[in-house]
Amino acid sequence: MPARIIDGKIISEQVNAETATASAALHASRGVRPGIAVVLVGEDPASQVYVGSKEKKAKDLGFHSLKIVLPKETSQADLLAVIAKLNADPAIHGILVQSPVPKQIDERSVILAIDPAKDVDCFHPFNVGKLLIGDTDGFLPCTPWGVMELLRRSGIDAAGKHAVVIGRSTIVGKPMLALLMQKAAGADATVTVCHSRTPDIGAFTRQGDIVVSAIGKANFLTADMIKPGAVVIDVGINRIVDASTKSGFRLVGDVAYAEVAAKASAITPVPGGVGPMTIAMLMRNTLRACRRANGLPAEG
Ligand code: GUN
Repeated sequence: MPARIIDGKIISEQVNAETATASAALHASRGVRPGIAVVLVGEDPASQVYVGSKEKKAKDLGFHSLKIVLPKETSQADLLAVIAKLNADPAIHGILVQSPVPKQIDERSVILAIDPAKDVDCFHPFNVGKLLIGDTDGFLPCTPWGVMELLRRSGIDAAGKHAVVIGRSTIVGKPMLALLMQKAAGADATVTVCHSRTPDIGAFTRQGDIVVSAIGKANFLTADMIKPGAVVIDVGINRIVDASTKSGFRLVGDVAYAEVAAKASAITPVPGGVGPMTIAMLMRNTLRACRRANGLPAEG
């Protein structure tokens, strides 16, 4: 039987509807709106698209949304000055500096400069530490949290399952490990992390009840690399040449979709899988930050 499609578009719309309702309630009771500032340095075309989507979604949800585009030659000092201003702005609850930044800027210093209470990406070491110790009062990293919500809202419980993550990036692989192995509802998995130096990745992924691929290689995960009935989550976004499209390119994930879908029990498509969830969880983090800034619990 072909795999059930885990539809990130539909599930993200549910999450966004909840966020919009909670945001409206906050406005009605406290007169405040969640505010997010998205900072882009330079003109990277993919980043421009991502930043535009974040700004639009924030506006759609009734948030205060600020997009700051700085020239590609912006100095580190000037960027840090922009962040300091946003840290001090009471109308802004979440700050995101789109990655990658130009070479003259040290990304680590930028992350450290963001007030941890406004770190809606969950990149600051303070929030990464909270994540690792299971303190859920802070922020959760948007993409891995989106994956957990896709599983939870699709009725897939990771408890006691073997989850295999491919990729060890700071944005996806490492926090994915932390969330899946967490002692918490929907988590509690046994987790294996494979990466570029793992010999024979298929030997590990074939043991996975849940396989999360975040390696950034088109058609990397093939049907022979999964066990029948596995749940396959594709975090990859890869641009491949496709002469039949207007742009000459097409976006695909890490998974050889057709053959894996024929063997898996559930699978996320690309596009329309994890991608929309990342933005939805970013908005949820901004709402959480706003609630906390107003003396309320993060959720409720
Ligand atoms: N670049 C690609 N993904 C992300 C993300 O989730 N946050 C930020 N700040 N930059 C990114």
